[in-house]
Amino acid sequence: MTRTVYVNGEYLPETEATVSIFDRGFLFADGVYEVTSVLDGKLVDFAGHAKRLERSLGELEMTNPTTESELLEIHRELVARNGIEEGLIYLQITRGAADRDFAYPEDAAPTIVLFTQAKPGLADSPAAKAGIKVITIEDQRWGRRDIKTVQLLYPSMGKMMAKKAGADDAWMIEDGFVTEGTSNNAYIVKDGTIITRHLGTEILHGITRAAVLRFAREAQMKVEERAFTADEARDADEAFITSASSFVMPVVEIDGSAIGTGKPGPVATRLRDIYLDEMRKAAV
Ligand code: PDD
Repeated sequence: MTRTVYVNGEYLPETEATVSIFDRGFLFADGVYEVTSVLDGKLVDFAGHAKRLERSLGELEMTNPTTESELLEIHRELVARNGIEEGLIYLQITRGAADRDFAYPEDAAPTIVLFTQAKPGLADSPAAKAGIKVITIEDQRWGRRDIKTVQLLYPSMGKMMAKKAGADDAWMIEDGFVTEGTSNNAYIVKDGTIITRHLGTEILHGITRAAVLRFAREAQMKVEERAFTADEARDADEAFITSASSFVMPVVEIDGSAIGTGKPGPVATRLRDIYLDEMRKAAV
């Protein structure tokens, strides 16, 4: 089936949508993105993603070609035109097309692209019931991971390393501490306390992370925002990841050793249930 996508003000069949070969997203990875999930045909935490988009753009002195309400309208229109009940919406804004030069062009018009990905069964996923396996790899990304840029080659390499090792994903290690997963935030649970890395330039400030920590605190669970090591993860009672595409996903193995019982733990399972319930209610 041919999707309808959005490019610079137009809704087009995916086969007719194009951007310039001079686009700085293509030449310099000079662009930012967001991934928003869709449940019951509605957008999950749209406001959170819109806010982080503004921040990423601001950090790169890029302008947003749309207002938040226009962006919401485009998301909804794509969900409707493509009949998405469960899935993802990808949004990318680049600095636009200009003759190749490292310095930012002064007058380029930003490029904006959105497309949907249907993912039936996203919420009721078998992976969430079984849990996933991770390996640890060195974090070799750039230093501004708080900006959600499209330079995703190292995370892609990390996923391939995991795949080759028979695992599902990789947790990245810097100076002995876990930063995050290749495309998600990382958590462990020890003696009932949820531990996840504090915010900073070393990790992406996950929109799912913010919601999950809020729900955890509301449910009187203990939360510590601090760096933890791979050894602590190996000794933890449970582990999990969060992202817009995986919600809360239990992690049951790290570098070949089982975490806790080797099965999804009660904290991760409960947080996934709460997250899905609350976000369905609040979805727009
Ligand atoms: N990834 N950390 C990294 C490095 C990420 O790429 C992501 C999201 C997250 C979680 O952020 P959020 O909860 O806002 O989705 C953390 C998206 C899903 C992706 O690249 O597909």
